Amino acid sequence: MFVLDYFPTMSIYIKQSKRCLGFQLLAIVFLMIMDETEAVDAGNFKRCDQSAFCQRQRNFKPEISPYVTNIDSLRKIDNSHFALDITNTQNNKAFVLDLFALEDSTLRLKINEAQPIAERYEVPNTIEDVKAQNMIAVPNLKNGSIVFHLGDNTNIQAVISCSPFRLDIYDEKEPVFSVNSRNLMHIEHLRQKPVPKPHEEKTKPEEPENPDEEQAEQGENEEEDKQEEQEPQEEEKEESDPDDQPGMWEETFKTHTDSKPRGPESIGLDTSFVNFAHVYGIPEHADKMALKSTVGSEPYRLYNLDVFEYELDSRAALYGSIPFMIGHNSKRTVGLLWLNAAETWVDVDSTEDNKGVLGTLFGYFAGEEAVPEVNVHWMSESGVIDVYFMLGRNPADVMRQYTKLTGTSYMPPMWATTYHQSRWNYKDEQDVKTVDAGFDEHDIPYDCLWLDIEHTDGKRYFTWDTLKFPDPVQMQNALAAKGRKMVTIIDPHIKVDTNYHIYREAQNKGYFIKNKDGSEFKGWCWPGDSAYLDLTLPEVRDWWASQFVPEVYKGSTLNLFTWNDMNEPSVFNGPEITMHKDIIHGAGWEHRHVHNLYGILLQMSTVKGQLARSQGNERPFVLSRAFYIGTQKYGAIWTGDNTAEWGHLAASVPMLLSIGLCGIAHSGADVGGFFKNPDPEMLSRWYQAAAYQPFFRAHAHIDTSRREPWLYDDKYRDIIRAAIRERYELLPYWYTLFFQAHKSGEPPMRPLWYEFPADVSTFDKDDSHMVGTALLVQPVSKPNTQVTSVYLPGATGWFDVKTYQYYPSPNTVSISTPLDKIAVLQRGGTIVPRKMRVRRCSALMTHDPYTLFVAVSPQGTAVGQLYMDDGHTFGFQNLKYNYKNLLFQNNVLISKSANPDASWDSDAWLERVVFMGVSRPTKIEMTVDGQVHPLEFSYESTTRVLTVRKPGVKMQKDWSIAIQ
Ligand code: GLC
Repeated sequence: MFVLDYFPTMSIYIKQSKRCLGFQLLAIVFLMIMDETEAVDAGNFKRCDQSAFCQRQRNFKPEISPYVTNIDSLRKIDNSHFALDITNTQNNKAFVLDLFALEDSTLRLKINEAQPIAERYEVPNTIEDVKAQNMIAVPNLKNGSIVFHLGDNTNIQAVISCSPFRLDIYDEKEPVFSVNSRNLMHIEHLRQKPVPKPHEEKTKPEEPENPDEEQAEQGENEEEDKQEEQEPQEEEKEESDPDDQPGMWEETFKTHTDSKPRGPESIGLDTSFVNFAHVYGIPEHADKMALKSTVGSEPYRLYNLDVFEYELDSRAALYGSIPFMIGHNSKRTVGLLWLNAAETWVDVDSTEDNKGVLGTLFGYFAGEEAVPEVNVHWMSESGVIDVYFMLGRNPADVMRQYTKLTGTSYMPPMWATTYHQSRWNYKDEQDVKTVDAGFDEHDIPYDCLWLDIEHTDGKRYFTWDTLKFPDPVQMQNALAAKGRKMVTIIDPHIKVDTNYHIYREAQNKGYFIKNKDGSEFKGWCWPGDSAYLDLTLPEVRDWWASQFVPEVYKGSTLNLFTWNDMNEPSVFNGPEITMHKDIIHGAGWEHRHVHNLYGILLQMSTVKGQLARSQGNERPFVLSRAFYIGTQKYGAIWTGDNTAEWGHLAASVPMLLSIGLCGIAHSGADVGGFFKNPDPEMLSRWYQAAAYQPFFRAHAHIDTSRREPWLYDDKYRDIIRAAIRERYELLPYWYTLFFQAHKSGEPPMRPLWYEFPADVSTFDKDDSHMVGTALLVQPVSKPNTQVTSVYLPGATGWFDVKTYQYYPSPNTVSISTPLDKIAVLQRGGTIVPRKMRVRRCSALMTHDPYTLFVAVSPQGTAVGQLYMDDGHTFGFQNLKYNYKNLLFQNNVLISKSANPDASWDSDAWLERVVFMGVSRPTKIEMTVDGQVHPLEFSYESTTRVLTVRKPGVKMQKDWSIAIQ
């Protein structure tokens, strides 16, 4: 029965929907028939062997690649761009290869059909305008290859071998990438649908006009039930006709048939990372950070999906997709972007058997031990081959190169980097008032309160349940008066109801996605029958953006921000709980071509709306569940519906690390776990971990018990309070990291190897992580953990941020982690700014004084930065900021503006400097504006901590403090 497809999601729905009685009754009937499953129903989602194109691509294993090119076809298009013809010798299909040299050690390879019978989909508006660099091509007729030399990065060379086609990319003569060396390049050319043979005509069912309706009817008969269990439809074939393989022209999964009007158009390519044993990225998966070998198991899947109670240790698709992969070894880091928006599967082969295969081929590594390699097989349902290679060399270089292509992170408003309080749902205005007051009463800071779907009038977004929220403006103003904000949820499914202004207007304008017969597509989601906006159309996005001005969004104020959920999009009765792939969007593309873009288009339009309502003055904040390449430009994401289990707490670290490595700076996981009730110990540990993750929000399912921190014993409340306060103390550091992410793409939360690239023992480590360059954090993710064993890399030692205890490194040490403490260490040689006067929210701390924590290295040095601005406008784009370089050497601490032209006026001053790892001084003097004056200090000889009191200087000034 078709309902089985979305049963789990519906079971949540039924528990929640207090309003839609008809839908609720229907759901009750199904619940009575079924036992409720608690975990993800894996059967709702495809495996590779249930996806025809994945199977075809995976089965394509020729001995020799059929694709050949020839030197004669080489043509220079411009100084940075060459083209070549490629032929598939199996069927004589012609393709065009384009090779581009881009600035900053980046190459782009594109392969498209020379004369496709229809245009093939190319992802629009994702890659930024990047500069090109000169490239020259030197053909070598003797060995049938062409060597491409880059003008700016002369160490980089690309070599195309002609027969068969292969591309190798070298850095300083060392092979780094190899393309099609495994012969897996396979582009299914577009073709006319074959005329069925007479006997097939009789047996093939007619193509349904509207597959949904047909299935709804069929769903009730037994035959359909049987079909549900089947593998993808295997068509009987007399002999293997390459144009007519299973699932090429139609494919059924469970009760849904994909009519595939364009037939097969999948693409596949192998890209090897030569001399690498570790690759990372391609989120979103609830899995380890270092990608696993998929040989003999499921490939990683990238297809934005709403997965109910997702499982850990899984390569299955989740809410977001970023086809970007990083290779890292002790000498270099490289990146590879597979630009595609369709369903994509990725096989990773890093088995030991590979060792040396390519190394031997290249001859370069001769004499060395077997060289490792990771062979990656990209398989997408449609599109063209479009790959960007980033040659690094170090992790920060790759992040810069990647974010030059895809955009750097948005600059979040300060309040968005703090602690957020959410649950499904804060019930009414009184509830909001009580929770808000609870934070003040218990002296726990927070900046933003969130309202989930129940705040609306029957899940009609942009409206309010006027019984529960009679005066939303007053409610927001009351929060704003304390410096706090509010977020409401706005999902992309629109309740079908002609009395609902959003539905009516969008319907009149023809803005909804349509079925093939031109009728409005309707799917089921929270409001019951829903229509979905066709966000692929700029006009629809503009219209959506226009909904956010307070005059249109009644009951909203400029202190109200947005949460875009269910934007994969989630369609409870659709195939795999999402939209049918053969639905046609306004511009003529099928949903299959654009699927992974849908979520980002919603977030992008919402951001546009928020910008417009403040005439571009105030920074927007939009949280999205679905994400894609470039999401970082628009806002934050979270890891969706996790569970209150220790494993999920642990998994938040690798998941967020992978997301950060793919450019998204602002990401987090629901604190406490969305499903189920965390025990107070787990909840306390979760707060301690999340206080050191970029997006810090507690959130919970409507069925869970209330979890506001003061509802627990004082002991736990105090621990939670302390964790949140730690976050607020560290805001100056976080804010500086977000600014750096905005400027150069560096993720605030990053793996250990990012900071210690040569330390092989960090390559697999994902139970600890860095916050910026300075802090190492290892959360506790097991009950009753009194001691944590922590690996401390590097040679400059570490200081426990709470006890100041010093640990030499590299070393594995045991750190005491009773319930009120996790391992957080500051690296010797770094400076971390904090604000030690924590108030009820960040707005009240804007001009508060700073404390600098200087962890001195064994060489007697330390460096750091501090970024300051007003925290909410775009003034920083007009030099209204202070960015200070902090340097300690030769016993002098210097603060100097990185950009002397920039200045934001603030009364914030320097309250204290804490030096760790120094000897007792005799005198301390400060120099500012040419004046020298002595400073008071105290010294703790057991920890070697020197505290310098009240330097008093305005933080934006240049100054120095000398220790004598
Ligand atoms: C989805 C979201 C969750 C939200 C719920 C109701 O499950 O992931 O965070 O609370 O929908 O809106």
